[in-house]
Amino acid sequence: MTTRARIAGIGSHLPPKVVTNHDLAAQMDTSDEWIVQRTGIKQRRWVDHPTTTSDLALEAATIALEDAGVGPDDLDMIFLATLSPDHEFPGTACFLQAKLDVPPGVPAVDVRQQCTGFVYAMSMADQFIRTGFAGRVLVVGAEVHSKGLQMSDEGRDVTVLFGDGAGAAVVEAIEVADPATDSHVFSTHLHADGRHAEELWLPAPGMAFEDFMSHGQVDRGDIYPKMNGRAVYVNAVKRMGEAVEETLGANDVAIEDIDLFVFHQANLRINEAVAERFGIPGEKVFNTIDRFANTTAATIPIGLHTAVQEGRLEPGMLVAVAAFGSGFTWGSMLLRW
Ligand SMILES: CC(C)(COP(=O)(O)OP(=O)(O)OC[C@H]1O[C@@H](n2cnc3c(N)ncnc32)[C@H](O)[C@@H]1OP(=O)(O)O)[C@@H](O)C(=O)NCCC(=O)NCCS
Repeated sequence: MTTRARIAGIGSHLPPKVVTNHDLAAQMDTSDEWIVQRTGIKQRRWVDHPTTTSDLALEAATIALEDAGVGPDDLDMIFLATLSPDHEFPGTACFLQAKLDVPPGVPAVDVRQQCTGFVYAMSMADQFIRTGFAGRVLVVGAEVHSKGLQMSDEGRDVTVLFGDGAGAAVVEAIEVADPATDSHVFSTHLHADGRHAEELWLPAPGMAFEDFMSHGQVDRGDIYPKMNGRAVYVNAVKRMGEAVEETLGANDVAIEDIDLFVFHQANLRINEAVAERFGIPGEKVFNTIDRFANTTAATIPIGLHTAVQEGRLEPGMLVAVAAFGSGFTWGSMLLRW
C-alpha cells in the first residue's frame, strides 16, 4: 500500500452571462470569422459586477465538496490558482477560506502560475499529501478576466481570447493497492522558463515602477495584458508536446493507454497540433474552448468537471493533463479517475 493523492470531488462554475464573438465585434474591430478561424472560440462567459474571483471559486468549491461528500471542516489546506486576484494582497485563497467557512488556522495559499496554475497547485497538493502533511486539500483555479481586458481595437488580440470561470477539486489521501484500478495521481511534472516572462504579461501596476500605480501607466495602456501571440503559439505547441511525452514516459504508458486528454484551452489550433504530432484521435481530446474560451487557471478543472457532466470521464479512466501559459510555465499530470 502506498499513500497517494486522488481527486475525490470535482466542481466548476461559469457565470451566466454569455458574450459571443458578435458581441465583441460590436465593440472593437474584430469578427466572428477571425476569432473562430484562428482560435476555435465562439463565446465566453463574463461576470457582472460585483462578482469577484473568490465568488466564482466559492461556487466551484461548494460543488466539489458536495461531490466528495465532505465539508469545509474536513479540509487541511487550500490552494487557489489565479492571475486575477480579488486584491493585490492578501491572497485570494484567504478570501475564499472566509467565504467558504473553512476553519481558521487552515493554511491558504495562492498560486501565481497563470494557465499552468492548476497543474502547479495539484502538484503541490500531491506532494503535501504524499509526505503526510495534509490528508485533504482543496485545489481551485478561478479567474475574472473580463474586468481587466482592453475593450478597444488596441487590445483585441488578447481580449477575444479570455473568459471568466472557476473549477475546483477536492484532493485527498488514499492507500493505493492496485495502481491499475485505483483512482489516484500517478505523477506531476512542472517547468518554467522566465526568459519569456514578457511575451505574455500584465506590466502594471507594480513595484517595478517608481510609483506602484500612476496615471502614466493608465495612459500608456500598461494596465492591460500584452501578448506576443506568435511566440506564445510556437512555444505552447512545443512545450505542451514535451509535457505530454514526459508524463507518459515517467509512467511507462503509451498514447493508446490514455482514455482522455484534458489540455489547457488557449487555442484550438494548439491542441490540434499537439494531437496531430502524437497521432491522438480527436475524440480523445476534450475541448471546451468553443464555449468558455481560455479561463486560464480555471481551465483544467472546468474541463474535468464538464467531461464528467457530459459522460466523457468515468471512474477508472486514465487521464493525461497538460498546460502551458505565461511565464512561460508548463506542466503535466497523469491520473486514474
Ligand atoms: C493570437 C493568435 C490567435 C493570432 O493568430 P495569428 O495566426 O498569429 O494571427 P495572424 O498573423 O493570422 O493575424 C494577425 C493579424 O490579425 C490582427 N488581429 C489580431 N487580433 C485580432 C482580432 N481579435 N480580430 C481581428 N484581427 C485581429 C492583427 O492586428 C494582425 O493584423 P495585421 O496582419 O494587419 O498586422 C495566435 O497567435 C495565438 O493563438 N497565439 C497564442 C495565444 C495564446 O494562446 N494565448 C494564451 C496562452 S495561455
